[in-house]
Amino acid sequence: MSDGVDLSVEFCGLRFKNPFMLSSSPVANSAEMVGRAFDAGWGGVAYKSVVTDNIPIIHPSPRMKEYDYGEKKLVGLQNVEQTSDRGLEANMKDIRYLKKHWPDHIILVSIMGFSNQEWADLAIACTDAGADMLELNFSCPHMTVEGSGAKVGQVQELVQKFTETVNDVTEIPLVAKMTPNITDINIPALYAKKGGADAISAINTVMALPGVNIDTWVPDPDVFGKGSLSGYSGPAVKPIGLRFIAEMALNKDLGLPISGMGGIETWIDVLEYLLVGATTVQVTTGIIHYGYRIVEDMEEGLSDYMVSKDISRVSDLIGKALPNLHETDKFDLSRQGIAEYDLEKCIGCGQCYIVCTDAGGQALEWDEVKRRPKPIEDKCLSCMVCKFVCPVDGLISFKEMPSSWKRRETVTLGDDI
Ligand SMILES: Cc1cc2nc3c(=O)[nH]c(=O)nc-3n(C[C@H](O)[C@H](O)[C@H](O)COP(=O)(O)O)c2cc1C
Repeated sequence: MSDGVDLSVEFCGLRFKNPFMLSSSPVANSAEMVGRAFDAGWGGVAYKSVVTDNIPIIHPSPRMKEYDYGEKKLVGLQNVEQTSDRGLEANMKDIRYLKKHWPDHIILVSIMGFSNQEWADLAIACTDAGADMLELNFSCPHMTVEGSGAKVGQVQELVQKFTETVNDVTEIPLVAKMTPNITDINIPALYAKKGGADAISAINTVMALPGVNIDTWVPDPDVFGKGSLSGYSGPAVKPIGLRFIAEMALNKDLGLPISGMGGIETWIDVLEYLLVGATTVQVTTGIIHYGYRIVEDMEEGLSDYMVSKDISRVSDLIGKALPNLHETDKFDLSRQGIAEYDLEKCIGCGQCYIVCTDAGGQALEWDEVKRRPKPIEDKCLSCMVCKFVCPVDGLISFKEMPSSWKRRETVTLGDDI
């Protein structure tokens, strides 16, 4: 309980004190790190993907590249990091330590095998070490070991087979982690379910190319003169993550609980993931940017929101946006609106006029003397691009028009050919 609200959730029959988890990545790479995160307030962890000792894991160097946009740092993050490069026994020791010292926190261990036997061996080792659940990594898009990660996740028969293999050797719940680098995420998710998965997590990183060095012509991230298509994460991918979670949550044939991630930094991001159907949420890039402390904002913000909405249990928020999500052919096209201007607030920058003229409905005139826009209501397309570029909050808003209102047709210049 926090501020009289209950943030706990049940996921695969296990109780999480709150839905906030570290996602499998460098933010969850050892007991020392995870223990500090638990103390900071995180309810669970998807521990960094562990592997057997059969194939040595060497990370490319450097292993990450930032994507900034204007003043905003780390809008996205590109990485070519591999699975854990720690020995299996070191990782298992850390799992045992975590379970002993933080017994009321949920430990999901991410595993990745490079053969059927390896999937089984890893599942047995992690179960013996006390993992509460396993997350099957079918989704890393840039493994240097052939035939692993997202390459498996894009072949549904392999997803089913490896899930079955793990399911045969352990009783603990299995969470299959899906790649977003696919058209229909429900296909591999359904095969994971057939193989025995109890839940789905998504998204892993989006395959991307964030930039090219214009002096050397090497695409990012530059690993000694070579770039590579690789995994992109952070706020820029949140819309993609929300899409995939909603698509799975709406699929009645799937019907599995979902752990959602991709671009989560704030309590509002968490809430949005819950509203489209996630039961727990996971975070990496937000922690890389700001540290474990962001969980304080998540806990406080979500609690305050729940109090304001008179909702006592966070689980009551799960999937609440789904009844409002439709195909576009369900929109009521008989209802139309326009951009409405509160010109008292106008500072005369003229951005609205430029964008409306060059990218909108040419629905503004510009008074050069007063330096103010003059709206022509019946030309407004309600595209709202003027609002997007206006630097003054609350100056431009959307207003519904009466059903008798008609938009003027755009004038053709073609008669004079
Ligand atoms: C540097 C880095 C390493 C990662 N390593 C793993 C991994 O070992 N296993 C895994 O399943 N996902 C891995 N991920 C993916 C994250 O767990 C997560 O799915 C993704 O980054 C999206 O969440 P975010 O936007 O909060 O970062 C990694 C991500 C980053 C940035």
